[in-house]
Amino acid sequence: MNTKELAVAIDGPAAAGKSTVAKLVASELAYIYIDTGAMYRALTLKVLREQIPPDDDQAISDLLAKTDMQLEQGDSGQHVLMDGEDVTEAIRSEYVTNNVSHVAKHASVRKEMVQRQRELANKRSVVMDGRDIGTHVIPDAEVKIFLKASVEERAKRRYDENVKKGFTADFEKLKEEIEQRDQIDSKREVAPLVKANDAIELDTTDLTINQVAASVLEEVSKVLETR
Ligand code: DC
Repeated sequence: MNTKELAVAIDGPAAAGKSTVAKLVASELAYIYIDTGAMYRALTLKVLREQIPPDDDQAISDLLAKTDMQLEQGDSGQHVLMDGEDVTEAIRSEYVTNNVSHVAKHASVRKEMVQRQRELANKRSVVMDGRDIGTHVIPDAEVKIFLKASVEERAKRRYDENVKKGFTADFEKLKEEIEQRDQIDSKREVAPLVKANDAIELDTTDLTINQVAASVLEEVSKVLETR
């Protein structure tokens, strides 16, 4: 089976299971996994460190122009390097999470990010997850998946994740933050979170991660069979 030269785009709202599923699928296919949210998060970390207001689109796009970002595949998973610094952990902080949608909504920022992401996807054999992958970054992806889940289930997953990591977590607060992020990501003017017309929608509320990954792999097999 020739598994090369395919692009798998996985989009969906916050905490719908995109990255976990994308990692599993990429590992199964021996493809490269590209977490585009991590790129917006890394930029947000730098914006916050430099105390640039998240609404200052000009200052943020100037900052992005001089920021190097690398996604490196290591033994313990993907590492995010920003200007050579490993920011894998730092970009998952609550502070970054609660500001990233504001930074990601600017047209100039998205234009540059999409260009960088297209370069990464250029060679195919990628599983890329985000909000606009099937609609803007790789509109010609052979497999497009849109994952969704109820906000309660998504908040529960984040809650469990935080508890597992030893962090304190407040379910209602997490739910509110997820809803707020969905709202900004879906209502922004440029490349809002929306299902591509040709994407397959999977509701993951009552499914395990393995079941979702199996469904995505089935879609990949279907495409490969037609080649
Ligand atoms: O997938 P994530 O939660 O790490 O993404 C963080 C934020 O980045 C998300 O709230 C919106 C933004 N994002 C985006 O606008 N476009 C993408 N392709 C990926 C993420």
